[in-house]
Amino acid sequence: MLERALYDAEGGFYEAGGRAGGRHGDFLTSPEVGGLFGAVVARALDTWWRDMGAPDPFVVAEAGAGAGTLCRTVLAATPECAAALRYVLVERSGAQRRLHAEHLRLEDPALAFAPVDPDTEAPVAGSPSGPICVSLPELPRVAGPAVVLANELLDNLPFGLAERRDGAWCEVRVDLDAAAGAGVGRGGAGRLVERTVPLDPERAAVLDRLAPGAPAGARVPLQAAARAWLRDALAVAGHGGRVAVVDYATTTADMAARSPSEWLRTYRGHARGGALLDDLGAQDVTCEVAVDQLALVRPPSSDTSQDEWLRIHGLDDLVDEARRTWAERAHRGDLAALAARSRVTEAEALTDRSGLGAFRVLEWRG
Ligand SMILES: C[S@@+](CC[C@H](N)C(=O)[O-])C[C@H]1O[C@@H](n2cnc3c(N)ncnc32)[C@H](O)[C@@H]1O
Repeated sequence: MLERALYDAEGGFYEAGGRAGGRHGDFLTSPEVGGLFGAVVARALDTWWRDMGAPDPFVVAEAGAGAGTLCRTVLAATPECAAALRYVLVERSGAQRRLHAEHLRLEDPALAFAPVDPDTEAPVAGSPSGPICVSLPELPRVAGPAVVLANELLDNLPFGLAERRDGAWCEVRVDLDAAAGAGVGRGGAGRLVERTVPLDPERAAVLDRLAPGAPAGARVPLQAAARAWLRDALAVAGHGGRVAVVDYATTTADMAARSPSEWLRTYRGHARGGALLDDLGAQDVTCEVAVDQLALVRPPSSDTSQDEWLRIHGLDDLVDEARRTWAERAHRGDLAALAARSRVTEAEALTDRSGLGAFRVLEWRG
């Protein structure tokens, strides 16, 4: 049901133009706050590139790239790894992918990954220097090491719901209300209703372990799609590579103890949307990411807040530089002065512990 509500080719929220963004968006993500987030990510990429022995090509796949804003801001920060960089924007929505070419020069994917002579299998001499950007609907099959990045992707993957009832776990499913007739979604006549069925013993045992003592009526998400994505991303990153995920995240037990309306949210036009089953396709549906469910695939090598992570990768230097520029040029009021002032304000938004600063940055090193 969520799969169709978000990604259906005709009525899905993302295909119908739903997106992150400032003026145009339904919600504001860190890359859309301004160029500072991308500038810090560019520094992190340089650090990881050097740690990997400065490979050329250096493949970075950004999954759930949306309109391509993170890529644009990373490139604008002119990272040291630029000449080696093969930046792959991975976005499943065709409507979002079409936005990539508006601001980025995209290349044929065949050029991006170490082209080799088909006869000799030797690297093609004079292959173009980076940065090279390509846009794909799914993760590339590359022989790592590579970096896989995802900002606010996992909270947007379809998830199931389980509920604690009569001392056991049930799965909450969605059905058409037989009494209300057929037709689902925007303009459809049908009414969707919840139905609960017993959860299979395997998944119930996992929930017993992750959320012991969940009270009657407690609900938790079942994040199989996020786990499957992580498995794929780890395979793409390969030995010596890295997966870095930024999202609002917590544990299954924490969600069991809270009201689902806190961790399962809908958004529309910069405001909270309606109930989960209302207006399918017209609102975004997101769910906090259960770190302990991802850890069933592999425990993350590090788990930091976005606030800490940005500071580890040089946010304070960039903000100090912006403060100096503003002090020197404020009287001129030119573009450089205004950009510097905006950078200071962006830093406050990105590190705000009651907002984006509290997001988790999870890393898996291969
Ligand atoms: C909340 S938006 C975040 C966009 C961008 N990363 C940002 O931070 O502004 C999530 C994006 O992930 C895309 N998406 C969802 N599932 C995906 C998948 N399996 N592979 C690639 N993109 C996906 C959606 O279409 C949407 O554009």
